[in-house]
Order: sequence, then C-alpha cells, then structure tokens
Amino acid sequence: MRFDIVSVFPRWVASVAEWGVTGRAREQGRLSLHCWDPRDYTHDRHRTVDDRPYGGGPGMVMKAEPLRQAIQAARGADPRPARVLYMSPQGRVLDQEAVRRLAQTERLILLAGRYEGIDERLIQLEVDEEWSIGDYVLSGGELAAMVMVDACARLLPGVLGDAESAAQDSFSEGLLDCPHYTRPEMYAGRAVPQVLLSGDHGRIARWRRQQALGRTWERRPDLLDGMQLSEADRRLLED
Ligand code: ADE
Repeated sequence: MRFDIVSVFPRWVASVAEWGVTGRAREQGRLSLHCWDPRDYTHDRHRTVDDRPYGGGPGMVMKAEPLRQAIQAARGADPRPARVLYMSPQGRVLDQEAVRRLAQTERLILLAGRYEGIDERLIQLEVDEEWSIGDYVLSGGELAAMVMVDACARLLPGVLGDAESAAQDSFSEGLLDCPHYTRPEMYAGRAVPQVLLSGDHGRIARWRRQQALGRTWERRPDLLDGMQLSEADRRLLED
C-alpha cells in the first residue's frame, strides 16, 4: 500500500514508518510512504503557504494553490489512481471497520492541514473524503495522518505475524479486548487469574470472551447496540 502525505512537516510525518510495525512493513516492501511539502510549490522568498481569512477573524488559512500542486505532484508520482483524504475534525470519525476498508486500497493521498483550515475551494477541487480521528482538535492533521498510516499498515497481509495477528485485536469483533497477563504469577500481591494457568484452552477462550463482553458492556455499551449476540455470549454476559 502506498501513502502520499501532503504536509508542511514532511520529516515528522515520514517518521511514522521508521519504527515498530510500520517500520517493518516498509522494510518488507508492503508499505511505502512519500511526503510532499506544499512549501516546495510556492514562488515567493518566504515560501508562504497561508494567508489571512476573507471576512476577517483570527488565524490563518492555507492557500489553495501550493496544496493543489503538491497533491498533483503526488498523483503523478505513481500511475495508480489515488483518492485524496483530508484529515480534519469536520470529517467522518474513523473506526476499525473504516480502517479495514481503507486498508484494501492500493494508494491513498493524505492531506494534513494546519492553521484554521484550508481554502474550501481546494477541498471542492481535490478532496474525495474527509476523515477525523476523534472529537477533539489537534493543531494540525499530521498526527491524524500518522494514525491512519499505522492503523492501515498493521492490517496489510503479512505485516503482523500469527502471534500478533490482527484477528485477535480488540475491535476485530466489535468488542473491547480482554485483560492480559505475563510472568510473574504473583505481582505486588496480585495473582494471575487461575483459569489462565489451567491449560484448559476451552475454558480460557470462554473466560476471555466473557471478559471482553463484560468490559464492553461496562465501558462502551454503545458498541453492543445493534450487535447480534449469540445465545452463548448472552449466557457468558449473564454469568
Ligand atoms: N486535524 C485537527 N484535528 C483533527 C482530528 N481530530 N482528526 C483529524 N484531523 C484533525
């Protein structure tokens, strides 16, 4: 999967593919990341990418033309068609199901804005989708673009080994994750739940499912709305 990110902080956004799972995905050739700085498409001495808003008010607005040229340079760098995603708090809120669908795309161009926003005409002309990573405001779209790259990269075939498989993720079945434990068996006076030491894989699987269901019911009941629980799940939840 190829990502092109348009941002005034290209080295920062590129760092998302330097370490960890995303770094490995890039080394394996399953992920590639290319950054485009709109300042490279300006023609004044100060490499200006923003200007005052029409109508007045505080803050600055990103100019359309440098962004448009950066997007077009990104489009032209690979023959495959690309959708342009603008990261913004006005967008649709990202969830695991949306990530799953986006991760099936061969290439995406992510647009990270700064300041108060970007000229609306650039959005009309170049942007296909607008995505938010949550109902809070960041100082720019860079972290949101990095979140998007990370969430997609770990779902690409072969990136996670069997042991860390995305199928085991919290949210893979729409539930929160169960608790996890590792050695030692007793830590700060707290024991590992006995069932996890039993070696009985059926009982362990049922316990984990019950924990996941219980936590979801307690912490995020909204996730259970509209979910069809099996009879077995219903019983686990009642126990
Ligand atoms: N840019 C600023 N805040 C954002 C958010 N919550 N999601 C995506 N992009 C953003």
